[in-house]
Amino acid sequence: MTGREARPLVVGSGIAGLYVALRLRELGLRPTIVTKARLEESNTRYAQGGIAAAIGPDDSPARHLADTERAGAGLVDRAAARVLTREAPARIADLVRYGVPFDTVEGRIALGREAAHSRSRLLHAGGDATGFSLEETLKHRLLEAGIEARERAVLRALRPGDRNGPVAVLSAPNGTAVEVEPPRPVVLATGGVGSLYLQSSNPAVATGEGIAIAFRAGALVADMEFVQFHPTAFAREGAPRFLITEALRGEGAVLRNAEGERFLVGRHPDAELAPRDVVTRAIQEEIARSGERWVYLDATGLPRDLVFARFPSVTSFLLAHGLDPSRERIPVAPVAHYMIGGVATDLDGRSSIPGLYVVGEAAATGVHGANRLGSNSLVEGLVFGERAARALRQRSPGGPRDPPTVISVPGRAGLGAPEETGLLDEIRSRLWEEVGIVRTAGGLRTALARFEEIGQQVEPARSEALAGTVANAALAAALIARAALARTESRGVHFRTDHPRPRPAWRHHLGLRRARPPAGRR
Ligand code: FUM
Repeated sequence: MTGREARPLVVGSGIAGLYVALRLRELGLRPTIVTKARLEESNTRYAQGGIAAAIGPDDSPARHLADTERAGAGLVDRAAARVLTREAPARIADLVRYGVPFDTVEGRIALGREAAHSRSRLLHAGGDATGFSLEETLKHRLLEAGIEARERAVLRALRPGDRNGPVAVLSAPNGTAVEVEPPRPVVLATGGVGSLYLQSSNPAVATGEGIAIAFRAGALVADMEFVQFHPTAFAREGAPRFLITEALRGEGAVLRNAEGERFLVGRHPDAELAPRDVVTRAIQEEIARSGERWVYLDATGLPRDLVFARFPSVTSFLLAHGLDPSRERIPVAPVAHYMIGGVATDLDGRSSIPGLYVVGEAAATGVHGANRLGSNSLVEGLVFGERAARALRQRSPGGPRDPPTVISVPGRAGLGAPEETGLLDEIRSRLWEEVGIVRTAGGLRTALARFEEIGQQVEPARSEALAGTVANAALAAALIARAALARTESRGVHFRTDHPRPRPAWRHHLGLRRARPPAGRR
């Protein structure tokens, strides 16, 4: 392979982007990786609990598959989940080869537990600094491999290209110094939408623009209604919403209300280790019932040494905020955490646009169904990253099939002003209040109308180079609200008071595609 097709552009530097870039290099290509902040700044860096793979003596890919399907509320794409669970151990071997320092016990990789996993299968590093270790290790391998890396380069648009792939328009964060890349294969690894929500575990970079830009370019997106909320982030007033990993519950910590009762007991057979959507809604109901702003995570019954050794990041954060978890209960509340949907792909990361591959949180492979099993996301980035790298190398054709329902979304190409902080704040508040853990038809309609209005307000933009955060945020938010409004049922992380149960007629994925604009308008 020679020419531009041998020089793919990877956008985003979490686990999926770094890994794909490394693998492309190993497959003989010359990738460039671009990222909108520093190389190491991504959601991956903050992952605590671990990375899931069936490597334990009592475990198997079949068990991992069964747990993934059980958590996914009837919507897991079995072919994708089979690929994920079968190929996960080989991808872990790649990480070991790259030098990720997984924690060990007596010479064997240590395995932790999280909610809805029937076995201990979470590999971790530095206790609860798993994401940090992964990110740092892969970044160093990438630099050692001499892969060209450009920081503070923001993807602004994807335009039709040629047989090599699309044209990527990049600029500096302030919209100056625009670069129009020649057509070449593009791998989007731009992550999710978490920080578009007022309360979020995600870093500020998680604003969903990769999904918005791909949609604008004509890509099929899917499952946008499925935004996963993590049940337990630190909830003290004025403090950051720092994640308190589910693995702490895996070690035996329990949830209590203000009266000290374990409110999940009797509500689900697995109590605090019930699937994440169940725990999140139970907490939300407890908060609504009590009028308090949080519930309590109680680790005081666990051995102090275990808590401090296994969870050094969590415990040092808590101590810095004046709380010793071996003596006091931790105030916690849910936060937006993970976008299950995204740009629809096939099993090899191909989107519906030739030459555009999408991996990691930005992709919708169907593997998580309607509720992601904890710690399946890091490994998803590796497994589908590997497959995307190989498909790109071979230039094999493919792409996702349309799901049974695809909504055609009218809209303009949408560019937008660079920054309108007030509008961004409004989007974040509305997503949290109206498109959050508990949804109503009225709230969704109001939010959708307002997101579209904001999109129009910022769209009559100046130039493509200025396609801005607000335009992308408004579009990503509108896609979430539109999909949530269309899905007239409750399933997994998507809960509506007007349709509180799953409906068999909705046991399928939901796609969204941009309607073709009238002639003469892009
Ligand atoms: O609780 C956690 O450590 C989160 C893990 C995940 O979202 O996969």
